[in-house]
Amino acid sequence: MASDINRRRSFSLLVLIIVMLYGHKGDSKCDFEAIFNFGDSNSDTGGFWAAFPAQSGPWGMTYFKKPAGRASDGRLIIDFLAKSLGMPFLSPYLQSIGSDFRHGANFATLASTVLLPNTSLFVSGISPFSLAIQLNQMKQFKVNVDESHSLDRPGLKILPSKIVFGKSLYTFYIGQNDFTSNLASIGVERVKLYLPQVIGQIAGTIKEIYGIGGRTFLVLNLAPVGCYPAILTGYTHTDADLDKYGCLIPVNKAVKYYNTLLNKTLSQTRTELKNATVIYLDTHKILLDLFQHPKSYGTLCHNLIWFSCTSTDKFSIFGILRNRILLFCFHI
Ligand SMILES: *[C@@H]1O[C@H](CO)[C@@H](O)[C@H](O)[C@H]1NC(C)=O
Ligand SMILES: *[C@@H]1O[C@H](CO)[C@@H](O)[C@H](O)[C@H]1NC(C)=O
Ligand SMILES: *[C@@H]1O[C@H](CO)[C@@H](O)[C@H](O)[C@H]1NC(C)=O
Repeated sequence: MASDINRRRSFSLLVLIIVMLYGHKGDSKCDFEAIFNFGDSNSDTGGFWAAFPAQSGPWGMTYFKKPAGRASDGRLIIDFLAKSLGMPFLSPYLQSIGSDFRHGANFATLASTVLLPNTSLFVSGISPFSLAIQLNQMKQFKVNVDESHSLDRPGLKILPSKIVFGKSLYTFYIGQNDFTSNLASIGVERVKLYLPQVIGQIAGTIKEIYGIGGRTFLVLNLAPVGCYPAILTGYTHTDADLDKYGCLIPVNKAVKYYNTLLNKTLSQTRTELKNATVIYLDTHKILLDLFQHPKSYGTLCHNLIWFSCTSTDKFSIFGILRNRILLFCFHI
């Protein structure tokens, strides 16, 4: 019973955050006009596939009925967030046709890292659009918006107002690939060594955006990737490395270390940026519960996670459904 209550509590955490952001419509601080998102596949709404076309099925088959640039069958957290704030889905910054940036832009691309990659997309599959590049795109976006307004350019009808940058929500859902991409090759202990650098760069990016007028920042923490099938199949381990839920203990310990440090660093950032609101969103808690108690989220979810995903095939698991987090698994 107690754990049931806990479960329901974490289950509704995301909904709560959305309601929190949405519920204050009258309060100018929360009356966001736009969202600018920095991220990887967890929040890419088409950036990667705009740069490197084209995405094939089965992506998007259930909700969008066609590939929609997301590494998911359904909508992503960022889609639900945009919708709950009364905005359309975020256009990818890299999408040249059909984009509308009046309510922000999405700089996320799948396989993005925080740190500059030392390798190429064509060698290791890591996106060239790491956080520093995404930040440069954001700065350039602002320069273009400012210029377009002062020169009264025709492209203005798809651009936000000049004052949008102080009235926007800046979201960060990135760092997972820094954590996972080297896990199999160098091991969890050596990955841990550069995690402070990853977090430092996220905090540094927030400060830079504050410098150009950003005031509200939402940072999603790292998921318990030690439960992810792709990690379980790709990372050499013994049964002793698994907890009673079948998740990798050393990997999830490193995730906790990362999240604790991220939370601490963001507290520090909060004290440094006097007029900023910096929110640390604990999605880890929700996702961990999903892996530990999949049955309480319905049999569909249970089947997807525990039956489809425990083979040695590679799977990709992302997505959320009706404000409830649901992981989708695809053979890729
Ligand atoms: C890439 O190499 C540089 C210099 O050796 C290093 O500082 C940086 O952390 C490396 N980045 C990654 C993602 O490994
Ligand atoms: C984050 O840190 C604050 C203290 O700065 C603490 O009160 C809070 O519980 C932490 N959040 C999580 C999810 O660990
Ligand atoms: C914070 O905002 C207030 C009101 O806009 C302003 O007067 C003050 O100078 C700002 N403080 C800093 C540190 O930017």
